[in-house]
Amino acid sequence: MGNALPDGPLHYVSLGPGTGQKDQALLRYLDSRGQSACYIPVDVSAEMLRLAQREALQHLHVPAGDVLPVQLDFSLPRNLDRLSTVIRRTVGDEPVLYSLLGNTLANFDSDSQLLALLADKLLRPQDRFLLEIANTADQSDAVARAAAQEYENSPRFREFVTSALMQYTDLRIDMNSLTYEGTVEDDRALKVKVIYHNRTGEQVELTLPDRSTVPFPDRDTIRLYLSRKYTQPGVEKMLAEARVVKAGQVHDTGHAAFDRPAFGMTLLLLQSTEAPRTPAGPDPFAASGPRA
Ligand SMILES: C[S@@+](CC[C@H](N)C(=O)[O-])C[C@H]1O[C@@H](n2cnc3c(N)ncnc32)[C@H](O)[C@@H]1O
Repeated sequence: MGNALPDGPLHYVSLGPGTGQKDQALLRYLDSRGQSACYIPVDVSAEMLRLAQREALQHLHVPAGDVLPVQLDFSLPRNLDRLSTVIRRTVGDEPVLYSLLGNTLANFDSDSQLLALLADKLLRPQDRFLLEIANTADQSDAVARAAAQEYENSPRFREFVTSALMQYTDLRIDMNSLTYEGTVEDDRALKVKVIYHNRTGEQVELTLPDRSTVPFPDRDTIRLYLSRKYTQPGVEKMLAEARVVKAGQVHDTGHAAFDRPAFGMTLLLLQSTEAPRTPAGPDPFAASGPRA
């Protein structure tokens, strides 16, 4: 990110920190530049917030008062209004680095609208936004199926994708009732959906943690997961709609060999179109920064 980042203390707001590993790398990077300030992880899951703080702050001497975990769903506009108020009260006019990493954006039905909402509610001219998304160099039905296959071939993903059903319902999960569907979403992305089908031949009653029941009719489906791999035009359009521009070098990883589809990850440092344009500096992640 180098000289594309503002100087001086930089507060770090991590939207969906997960296990906190990437936040650790980022906080260390800021620390090495003498820029560390407040760390504000924001997640819908209390468990993730707990994990993230433990991992991210390892070996860093961040005063407890500079860590402000916030539990909320950042896809809701009213929650973003509240979050924005909390952040502004905490940091004043000092710049904030936001992040949305791990292709989290692709999990939302209205991904483009979500990015626009986040930029609109949170991003001021002095702030920056680090966005990590999965990309594809090719777009065809066959490549979309290959994207779905990537997920299908992973036993760990199968465990992960059924874990919410396991945790929140009493459904007896049949792994053969999962389908992985890869489709082309206009010219913007490849879309992957993982779907659970009721193939028992009868209606099943699902018991939820509060002991209420919901019917799961025969042949009905539950969508367990949504993800995407974006095309270059898809990314450009999404950034334009969110009224953000690239503030630094794009960092791409994992582009493929000739015999495999060209999937990879892209890390973008963004700023509001209202921000004064910063010249793109050298790629800070080439040697030692956080990796996708
Ligand atoms: C795909 S993980 C990414 C984790 C991490 N950023 C990484 O790159 O490894 C998504 C994270 O976002 C959180 N999350 C997903 N949807 C959310 C929402 N609507 N509001 C708040 N947190 C959300 C999840 O709990 C999880 O921690």
